[in-house]
Amino acid sequence: MISPVSLSSSNRLLSLEETSWVTQFSETYGQDIIYNLTMGTPFWSPPTSVQQAIIQSCGLTETYRYGATCGIPQLEKEIGKRLDLKFASSCGNEVMICSGSNQGFLNILLCLCNPGDEVILFRPYYFSHYTACLLAGVKPVVVDTDSEFLPQPQSLEISVNTKLVVVVSPGNPSGRVISTDRLRSLYQLCFHRGVWLVIDEAYEHFIFDGIETNSFSATDGVINLFTFSKSYSLAGLRVGYFCYPSYLRKSMLEIQDTIATHACHLAQQAALAAFNDSSKEWIQKQVQEMVPRREIFWQVVSKYHTYRANGGFFFFVPIPDSITSHDAVQYLIQKYGILVFPGQLFGMSNYLRISYGSLSLHETKEAANQLNDALATLWNNK
Ligand SMILES: Cc1ncc(COP(=O)(O)O)c(C=O)c1O
Repeated sequence: MISPVSLSSSNRLLSLEETSWVTQFSETYGQDIIYNLTMGTPFWSPPTSVQQAIIQSCGLTETYRYGATCGIPQLEKEIGKRLDLKFASSCGNEVMICSGSNQGFLNILLCLCNPGDEVILFRPYYFSHYTACLLAGVKPVVVDTDSEFLPQPQSLEISVNTKLVVVVSPGNPSGRVISTDRLRSLYQLCFHRGVWLVIDEAYEHFIFDGIETNSFSATDGVINLFTFSKSYSLAGLRVGYFCYPSYLRKSMLEIQDTIATHACHLAQQAALAAFNDSSKEWIQKQVQEMVPRREIFWQVVSKYHTYRANGGFFFFVPIPDSITSHDAVQYLIQKYGILVFPGQLFGMSNYLRISYGSLSLHETKEAANQLNDALATLWNNK
């Protein structure tokens, strides 16, 4: 059937070259993938109590009814306690539980920004943040980091239109952990200019090399964003949360009610079980299991001036100038069966993001061998 000329889609994402790259690429090369090094989830399963909690929740009437917009009270309370401990003070802010932290980020943009406002992202940025800005009708302004992917407070070009600054620590894709002092400096700079600071800590527990866990919050001007997808391995259940100043509560509730109404009850019960069952020691033990994987990959990628990421479970690896990251990805999949993310997705075309998080130790060794050959050929053919 021929569509009438007047049927068209919105132009929100027209400027986005990378739209649905992952889907398109998987459709074309899905059958060629032997080693998938794109995954943003760890290799472990959630704590055993999670399954039990889901089964129990299936028998409860309230599971099937609408519930509290900001989340089930028990989970909200546990999160509140955890944040008080994390920030070593009563953070006193409101908690919003959402269907994954990506949804939370969109809520935050809609609550804080007017169409046309500017949001500062640091390059390399997390691609969903960039896309969310376009969806919300705000302008992502991308600012460069230093040679080790560290945001420099002095390079922040805050304009009259800047509404918020976003940092990710540990970074995705950089793995860069930003120190508490630096987060505080960024905050002070922002706060004095009436600009919000959003700190995304999706990989908060994935910190290596004896680096201290770095966190920063404030009762005003900062929104801290977290997820159950990574440390607790609940990505498929879609639960995240953020804490924010209470004077935003009315509009935050309105936005959440309109978009998701609330996060799924079964998923929230699972998150509560994971939370209660995953002591600090449990998480530390899991994260320790990443160390040998990280070292195996490091042996390979360190040959190419790669920054030794001290967080996350990625390496952001430079490639020769003579090839774009899209072409390099295509080459690696076609010749070596290795799928990685092109740096272009994160705003840097001469890099590849290589994730080792979801592999078994055996797969890690095999994938690293293959990657070793693949990167050597890429660099030798430059
Ligand atoms: C930095 C960062 N923030 C947020 C997310 C999304 O987390 P969620 O699964 O909670 O939406 C990811 C997932 O890859 C991420 O890397």
